[in-house]
Amino acid sequence: MAIDPNHAIVFGAAGLLGWSVVNQLLSNYPSADSFSQVTAVINRPVSEPDLHLPKPSPERPGFQVVSGVNLLQGTGDDLAGQLKDKVPSAEKITHVFYFVFSALNDDHIQECRINCEMMQRVADALNIVSPALKSFVYSGGTRGYGIYVPGGTFKAPLEESLADQLPEDYAGCAYPLFRRILTKASHGRDWTWTEVCPDAVIGFSPNGSGFSLALHWAQYLSLYAYNHGIRAGSGQRVEVPFPGCEEALDSKFAPVSSKILGRISIHAAMNPDTCGGKVVNMADDEQPTTFRHIWPAAASWFGLVGVGPSNDAGALKPGAYVAKYKHVFGENGRHKAVACGVGAGAAQLDSVGWWLTFDRQLSLKRLRALGFEERRNPVEGWLEAFEQFRDAGIIL
Ligand SMILES: NC(=O)c1ccc[n+]([C@@H]2O[C@H](COP(=O)([O-])OP(=O)(O)OC[C@H]3O[C@@H](n4cnc5c(N)ncnc54)[C@H](OP(=O)(O)O)[C@@H]3O)[C@@H](O)[C@H]2O)c1
Repeated sequence: MAIDPNHAIVFGAAGLLGWSVVNQLLSNYPSADSFSQVTAVINRPVSEPDLHLPKPSPERPGFQVVSGVNLLQGTGDDLAGQLKDKVPSAEKITHVFYFVFSALNDDHIQECRINCEMMQRVADALNIVSPALKSFVYSGGTRGYGIYVPGGTFKAPLEESLADQLPEDYAGCAYPLFRRILTKASHGRDWTWTEVCPDAVIGFSPNGSGFSLALHWAQYLSLYAYNHGIRAGSGQRVEVPFPGCEEALDSKFAPVSSKILGRISIHAAMNPDTCGGKVVNMADDEQPTTFRHIWPAAASWFGLVGVGPSNDAGALKPGAYVAKYKHVFGENGRHKAVACGVGAGAAQLDSVGWWLTFDRQLSLKRLRALGFEERRNPVEGWLEAFEQFRDAGIIL
């Protein structure tokens, strides 16, 4: 059978979303002959075994990791030169997946500016390097539906048409600007963009992640269980209160697991005629879930009993708890766990249980109309991520 000469390049490939897409590409989604080459572009170097991706096999697409590409620096021309030097067959790149994000918590306007500049650099470079480009998939998020405003901005289920109706004073959100940059960059060319839009993304990342709720809670719950004497076969009953309030426990949302996110991104990339120029929501299931459902299942994986909020005002939030007991990882030989936790997003992730007190589930009508039918029980994604973190030595 002739192999399709598709060459996918993934920027931010060691991050939460980028890794999810590389993992699915190397797992031969949608089929073994879909991509002949996959290039993972990363900033901070990670060895290939430490990426925990599918092992080489006759069916796996050709794979290369290109590290040390800092997108904050230089011009589009400079980046084009770097890609030509470092990426084999750069001129044959057909599909771009862009999942880079640089956080500047104290200044959302400046954060938006630097992220737009990185996006512009990548679009400019690819227009120079890759005449075969067909599609450019990148991530938006529910921030683009105004969920950073207390109580939310729009009534759920959140539909894609709302993304262009954000109030003028909702500053610091890059996604509408990304759409403008890519519309302009693709004008008169043979490629188009798709903005895939998740709410919380639940999955593995090999090198830490800025805003991974699953990683944040996995490190917290693993230390909490250890500190409370939970060991294999100990049979103790130890409760762990939900880090938040009752309203947040019951508000509806629709998370997406790594596997479904990777697959939807690839589906969008391979169908530019129908998915191009669109925002497309992504989630495991159109049926929303709640933390009242997720929390006990997550806690139980660590041998704990997840219960509702506690009245202990002095209880440490997960971020402070992990910071206080991080040395326990090292004492138990999990040195990677110290470096590979959440970064800039710890405080925001701590506030999830108090701030997200409103329904924010995504509508999946457009996704289904575009032909993506796979669905998954959202709990599975959490448990799968915990197993991967444990295998990689990122939790106890
Ligand atoms: N996390 C979620 O639940 C979630 C939900 C909705 C939307 N999103 C969106 O998804 C996108 C990706 O987020 P994520 O959660 O995957 O973040 P992440 O895990 O922190 O990954 C971000 C990636 O960007 C790379 N990066 C940062 N600065 C860079 C630079 N100067 N040059 C090159 N690469 C750089 C990082 O590499 P280094 O660490 O090596 O610099 C990292 O691999 C963001 O737009 C985010 O808003 C995320």
